[in-house]
Amino acid sequence: MENVTSVKTFILLGFSNAPHWQILFFVIFLCIYIATVLGNLLIIVLINVDSALSTPMYFFLRNLSFLEICYTSVTIPKLLDNILARDKTISLHACATQMYFFLFFGATECCLLAFMAYDRYVAICNPLCYPVIMRKSVCVQLAALSWTCGSLVAVGHTTFIFTLPFCDSNVINHFFCEIQPVLKLVCGDTYWNEIQIIGAAAFVILMPFMLILLSYFHIIATILRMKSAKSQQKAFSTCSSHLIVVSLFYGTAIFIYIRPKSSYSLNVDKLLSLFYSVITPILNPIIYSLRNKDVKKALKRTVLKLMSSK
Ligand SMILES: *[C@@H]1O[C@H](CO)[C@@H](O)[C@H](O)[C@H]1NC(C)=O
Repeated sequence: MENVTSVKTFILLGFSNAPHWQILFFVIFLCIYIATVLGNLLIIVLINVDSALSTPMYFFLRNLSFLEICYTSVTIPKLLDNILARDKTISLHACATQMYFFLFFGATECCLLAFMAYDRYVAICNPLCYPVIMRKSVCVQLAALSWTCGSLVAVGHTTFIFTLPFCDSNVINHFFCEIQPVLKLVCGDTYWNEIQIIGAAAFVILMPFMLILLSYFHIIATILRMKSAKSQQKAFSTCSSHLIVVSLFYGTAIFIYIRPKSSYSLNVDKLLSLFYSVITPILNPIIYSLRNKDVKKALKRTVLKLMSSK
């Protein structure tokens, strides 16, 4: 225990291993952040004002859009600040807070996406029971369950990691306070923490992912039995784009969280974690909503209404 120091600040390296690209990175991440916030805000506003979008699916989508705004706001603004700042330090408390909220929103998203897939499964495979199964109260409870699950995961991980002693090094080779790079700075044996991370990840990442795959398996089987080729094609194009985003999100998360610490390669991990922390939040509104005909119609109606009221 002799080289245990009381580390009070960490240094977030971000992408400073590519010093000539900093301005470009700044512009790209700024654009992505603005697009993510505006795209998701647009969806929330549309779902609120257009009465045609008051089905359970849009209740979940609005919740997802709200969640994506929160989720990206945890990492990207700090990353932008970090690119510009000379001083790349982050206090222990700020780091713990960032990790808490990142895990909170991330785990919530894992659960919410699964309930959204389940919602589609019931709507397509069991349309007669759909209004009964997906009552308003059930939707609210499922969404609340996602948020609760996310907060439990976040509290658990963050308190366990930040009560451990940190050693001399305080350099985090990542663009935010992600679990593995912080765990790497902990003194001594972190075997049980790793087991815990893998266990929790299996619970909040693998289980929802399985549920999603199962839902889409049934959905695709139902689509294949449809009579008209046109409705088949439409359903397929929706499903395949959902599956691509979902696989990108869960696939990279599974790769990052479910493996032993000895195999951490922080430079590769940093790039891979861009997929679940930055790229899927901007893809989700595009894939789930803006490609959707009902949303496009609602957008047109709302714009016309706004123009005629002027
Ligand atoms: C998301 O769902 C939770 C839990 O049901 C609810 O409290 C919250 O208001 C919802 N947010 C949005 C933007 O729909």
